Amino acid sequence: MKIESDYSLLEHNTFGIDAKCRRFIEYASVEEAQELVRSLNAEDYPLLILGGGSNLLLTDNYKGTVLHSGISFIEQLDNERVRCGSAYVWDDFVDYCVAHNLYGAENLSIIPGECGASAVQNIGAYGAESKDLIEEVEAVEIATGEVHHFKNADCEYSYRQSKFKHEWRNKFLITSVTYRLSKNYDPKLDYGNIRAALAEKDIENPTAAELRQTIIDIRNAKLPDPEVIGNAGSFFMNPIVPKAKYEELAAQYERMPHYTIDENHEKIPAGWMIEQCGWKGKALGPAGVYEKQALVLVNLGGATGADIVRLYEAIQRDVKEKFGIEIHPEVNTIP
Ligand code: FAD
Ligand code: EPU
Repeated sequence: MKIESDYSLLEHNTFGIDAKCRRFIEYASVEEAQELVRSLNAEDYPLLILGGGSNLLLTDNYKGTVLHSGISFIEQLDNERVRCGSAYVWDDFVDYCVAHNLYGAENLSIIPGECGASAVQNIGAYGAESKDLIEEVEAVEIATGEVHHFKNADCEYSYRQSKFKHEWRNKFLITSVTYRLSKNYDPKLDYGNIRAALAEKDIENPTAAELRQTIIDIRNAKLPDPEVIGNAGSFFMNPIVPKAKYEELAAQYERMPHYTIDENHEKIPAGWMIEQCGWKGKALGPAGVYEKQALVLVNLGGATGADIVRLYEAIQRDVKEKFGIEIHPEVNTIP
């Protein structure tokens, strides 16, 4: 087990915030995770369970203990199932699947972070979500050290939500995730500009590897690389509103993009609303709104968590005032 004190989290958050934690503990196996949770004392609290830190905003030094999985392996269980340790890099898993003719993960290419978080966040992109692949989640209960095996249905997945974000928040250390892929290739090409990007390459029926590369190209063209500009992807979730609210706005804004959720609800892209408010490419001090994607807030250099909070609250206020809609952060803000 790796144990550090007064430890810098700069390399552990993609926003590039220079904060420290009082203690940092990394467990390398299920047994170490059990030993760790059974040894926790009152002075170790509060706890912050950290993956790759790509959906995290640190607003100050962390006065408690950061727990990080170091369990990194991938194993194919049978024809369709792959199990990954919670610290296994998500995109390495996607790459493995594409290379081994296991289908269904292609559209989730190059999402940063680790496999453990894929079971918490229900990551999604280009018409796919990790919940469509997750079969089972193995986790150690912090209060008891017991190992649990949760089925997909136990985790109550929906758009960027799971039980791990609510009722089970801070209650479990995820140690591995089992995914079920498909041997039948049924590419999802209808979302956003996938078909247009394929047409540009003169590809009509992409192989899984070509589809993966196209998703990578689309994303690289509009999302900032955290190695270059600190960010945590979409800062806000896209709000899902009642149909009546959508119709009221659609009458006012003819070109408003939207996605139908069901007959009573529509999802409205927060990035579009933020751009309409005039924030795209703008900044408040060292905290900025990315010039190519208004849903992404960026650290222009030396921003503190408080700088990013000031910007996100100003954006929330403006969107509420202009559209009458509250937008909520997807990113976890840690006090
Ligand atoms: P962290 O940010 O460290 O943690 C996320 C949550 O998971 C926290 O609540 C944490 O407590 C919990 N957690 C992590 N590991 C464990 C564990 N072992 N046990 C229990 N709980 C755990 N997200 C999307 O959905 N779609 C995208 O297209 C997308 N694009 C992005 C692009 C960029 C450039 C960036 C920077 C981020 C993007 N994201 C996207 C957000 C982010 O990549 C995902 O939310 C990812 O799943 C976070 O993984 P992580 O390992 O960094 O988790
Ligand atoms: N838009 C604008 N201006 C902007 C940004 C977007 O008008 O500055 C419009 C676009 O033109 C498009 C619509 O908003 O009509 C949606 O934009 P985009 O396809 O870029 O996707 P998004 O809704 O901004 C979501 C996810 C992303 C995911 C992409 C692709 C959320 C919160 N975000 O973004 O996930 O990669 O779709 O599927 O659902 C993340 O969660 O961190 C993330 C990056």
